[in-house]
Amino acid sequence: MAKSPVLALAVLVLSLAATSHGALQYGFYKGKCGTKDVEAIIAGVVRARFARDPTIVAALLRMQFHDCFVKGCDASILIDGPSTEKTAPPNFSVRGYDLIDQAKAAVEAACPGVVSCADIIVAATRDAVVRAGGLQYQVQMGRRDGTVSLASNVNLPSPSISVQQSIQAFQQKGLNTFDMVLLLGGHTVGITHCSFVSNRLYNFNGSGKQDPNMNVALVNALKQRCPLQSSFNNAINLDQGPSSSLRVDNSYYKQLLLNKGILPIDQALTLDWSTRWIVQLLGNSNLFPSLFNQAMVKLGSVQVLTGTQGEIRKSCRAVNKR
Ligand code: HEM
Repeated sequence: MAKSPVLALAVLVLSLAATSHGALQYGFYKGKCGTKDVEAIIAGVVRARFARDPTIVAALLRMQFHDCFVKGCDASILIDGPSTEKTAPPNFSVRGYDLIDQAKAAVEAACPGVVSCADIIVAATRDAVVRAGGLQYQVQMGRRDGTVSLASNVNLPSPSISVQQSIQAFQQKGLNTFDMVLLLGGHTVGITHCSFVSNRLYNFNGSGKQDPNMNVALVNALKQRCPLQSSFNNAINLDQGPSSSLRVDNSYYKQLLLNKGILPIDQALTLDWSTRWIVQLLGNSNLFPSLFNQAMVKLGSVQVLTGTQGEIRKSCRAVNKR
């Protein structure tokens, strides 16, 4: 349990109270696809992929974040084209589009024109999290797909943003500081690249030295992986826990408390008074799995289109022809 049970309980109540999901509904597709269970169809596709590629969890978590943060959870990230969101630099390394195509094909085969791509992203991410050791959770459905996708709309936070700037960016999406720290827990899986870390290893804030807030053993290990004069941009696990880089668990926070955060924003969470206590709470308790799920549900309700807004795309990669 948390070191301070009273604090933990207060946080839980606050976080539940802050959860608002507009017009989305649990069980939205019940009875809308004949006798077929839409969520089970999507879960089947994720299960099969996860069995051969567990990194799909990281791919989907990042995809949901990048979709929901830009014009809301409307699947605008999925649209192909010369200047769509996909083509913006922060989305260059987003993966998993093929899984969404597969899930869409499977639901279209069961009931054409019923299930939105925006819902598929959220349901598939939930299924992947559960496969990777997260707790089972219900997600609300009923999102509609957006019809606009522009690279110029992509204003995702940079990894070297300050905690206070990041808090503001999340606030603009209706997500509070606690949600932000929980959602950054998505970095419990997946990878980044040397280019995002090399300043911390060789020239922190222009000092010509390493970041004093990075564990020295980690600095040395990463210098091996990211040599100064290298033409390779190697991958690095975001969660340096020895056995948990594929698991959705609280190891990310434990690593932060050991000064083993990877991206500047990760470690910064322990350096700012407004987030440090949350890292401590999550790293030293078993609260993370259920609170992370709640934060994901909240992320999944950012600026959603519902009712008659938007459309149900035929292909997740293109808006419908008019
Ligand atoms: C201030 C907020 C955030 C920043 C600045 C940020 C930044 C980044 C960066 C720079 C990478 C590595 C990209 C690369 O090297 O190719 C990354 C990876 C990742 N991010 Fe975030 N992120 C943020 C929030 C989130 C949130 C809220 C989630 C999910 C809930 C998330 C999930 C992931 C995952 C899973 C990966 C690994 C992807 C993979 O292995 O393909 N991030 N993030």
